[in-house]
Amino acid sequence: MIRFDHVHKEYPDGTIAVDDFTLEVPSHEVVVLLGSSGCGKTTLMRMVNRMVDPSSGSVSIDGDDVAHSDPVKLRRSIGYVMQSGGLLPHRTVVDNIATVPLLLGATRRSAHARASELLDLVGLEQSVAKRYPSQLSGGQRQRIGVARALASDPNILLMDEPFGAVDPVVRAELQRELLHLQNELAKTILFVTHDVDEAFLLGQQVLVLRTGAEVAQHGSPANILLDPADDFVANFIGGPRRHLRTEMRDGRHIVVDAAGHVTGVLQDDRGAAG
Ligand SMILES: Nc1ncnc2c1ncn2[C@@H]1O[C@H](COP(=O)(O)OP(=O)(O)OP(=O)(O)O)[C@@H](O)[C@H]1O
Ligand SMILES: [Mg+2]
Repeated sequence: MIRFDHVHKEYPDGTIAVDDFTLEVPSHEVVVLLGSSGCGKTTLMRMVNRMVDPSSGSVSIDGDDVAHSDPVKLRRSIGYVMQSGGLLPHRTVVDNIATVPLLLGATRRSAHARASELLDLVGLEQSVAKRYPSQLSGGQRQRIGVARALASDPNILLMDEPFGAVDPVVRAELQRELLHLQNELAKTILFVTHDVDEAFLLGQQVLVLRTGAEVAQHGSPANILLDPADDFVANFIGGPRRHLRTEMRDGRHIVVDAAGHVTGVLQDDRGAAG
């Protein structure tokens, strides 16, 4: 469990990125931070692995304040898929994936065996192992980012717009694969996106944020879709425009827009949907 307790972040130039934010991310759940550019999502995420320290308030993992942990050890114990991908350009795919296991003292042989297992897990051919990041497609790079974050089998995954840089078809494929992986791995995942559909597809809980990481609404996808807290949330999720409603179809709750297009399947049915 990750807990943010009244965290506040003012950067040295006076920018208040986060103003009094509190949240509990339960173990084995996916919680999504949804909000526009600059609202403080990356800042919040980086407080978990101490790439950013809060100006006040605290972040704890399973009850232990991260401020008391060694930042390097902490970072190696948490999977982080960076917004920009963050692959090391001069290292091959296999070495990129093996980075953390090697730092943690795994032998080269076992780290490479693990990397090869992870290539399978994220749906890539073994033949990409010897390539460099520049020799991959955007979707392949994003899969490698996910593989690298999973390499040391961390309990917590921080995913900062991990599927931002790919076309909608690949993005949908990556989202499906993440749901599939999560069904097996049951990690505690804090996921950041500004894509409304992605947030509702992946999150068991979603937080809609305004500037300063102010929580406009926190709830299940169904809550937020069907009962937006205010005009800001309604506009952000496109509710009034889309006239969203839910329907039962084939035993699953689905979200349908005014034109009858299915815009999503509600999270509560994820188990059943497989
Ligand atoms: N190192 C920094 N120094 C000063 N201001 C910063 C710094 N990093 C971020 N900010 C500012 O803090 C605010 C929140 O930034 P943050 O990167 O957390 O937003 P975000 O929600 O992740 O945005 P995006 O969706 O564009 O990635 C922004 O106003 C940003 O300009
Ligand atoms: Mg960001």
